[in-house]
Amino acid sequence: MAELYEQLQESVEYIRGGVPERPKAGVILGTGWQDFAGELSSPITVRYADIPHLLPKHRANDKNDGALITGRLGEIPVACLSERFHLYEGFSAQEVAYPVRILCRLGIKALFVTNAAGGINRGFSIGDLMLITDHINMTMQNPLIGIDDDRIGKRFPDMTRAYDPALIKMAENAARSIGVKVEKGVYAGVCGPSFETPAEIAMLRTLGADAVGMSTVMDVIAARQMNVKVCGLSCITNKAAGIGPQEISETEVYSVMKEVRTKTVGLLKTIIASSEKLLDDESQ
Ligand code: HPA
Repeated sequence: MAELYEQLQESVEYIRGGVPERPKAGVILGTGWQDFAGELSSPITVRYADIPHLLPKHRANDKNDGALITGRLGEIPVACLSERFHLYEGFSAQEVAYPVRILCRLGIKALFVTNAAGGINRGFSIGDLMLITDHINMTMQNPLIGIDDDRIGKRFPDMTRAYDPALIKMAENAARSIGVKVEKGVYAGVCGPSFETPAEIAMLRTLGADAVGMSTVMDVIAARQMNVKVCGLSCITNKAAGIGPQEISETEVYSVMKEVRTKTVGLLKTIIASSEKLLDDESQ
């Protein structure tokens, strides 16, 4: 992928043509988190389909309503990805990570990743929010494979503090300040699209996972390679397979996300607004 850097330059130049302000915070809106974009003032929307290289050539004819939405939250310039690409849709790990790389090249200081997830931890209830403290990549894929370009980042990036401890602390304080309960835990990223079997969930629990989902890990690996701090937030939409009596369905995931959207959007807003100081830290 010798041309990845050049492609990113072209994507970013195109975006900068319409978006003069450099974003400080990047946000990936996972399933059911989309309402957050409506909170930005002076929004500018750039459709994924118009951004060079963002849609892989072999998917150029797919219908895609995704957009990069920029604007301000209070004083903070923010850039949101309205949706992701997933491994289960047939995108490669590098293709999944490409929109995140664009945010990183645009100059964000921190990336806020959101998702819907199944609760493995028996203490979690449906509708709970979980700050991700770490992840387990169960996809056996990695967006950095084949990339060896110092202009993008290290070939072997450290993942010890993939989810930034200072951002986690700040997010916990932000949640407390608005009276929203937030859990902390480890996110297991799987490929999907089938939900897990009860045996797989039992295995993931043994491995130390608290929640499971089909996204996020590719995004976070790419962002860490590009030296961007990460804060991750999962909404627990269902008990993982074998925990509750009921079957798991996409419909349930969407309906829970809809029910709790005031809480999710409110928390995400408060977290980003309270990260202003960390975003101004020029030490990285
Ligand atoms: N498993 C995987 N991904 C998910 C789940 C789940 O139970 N719930 C929401 N996303």
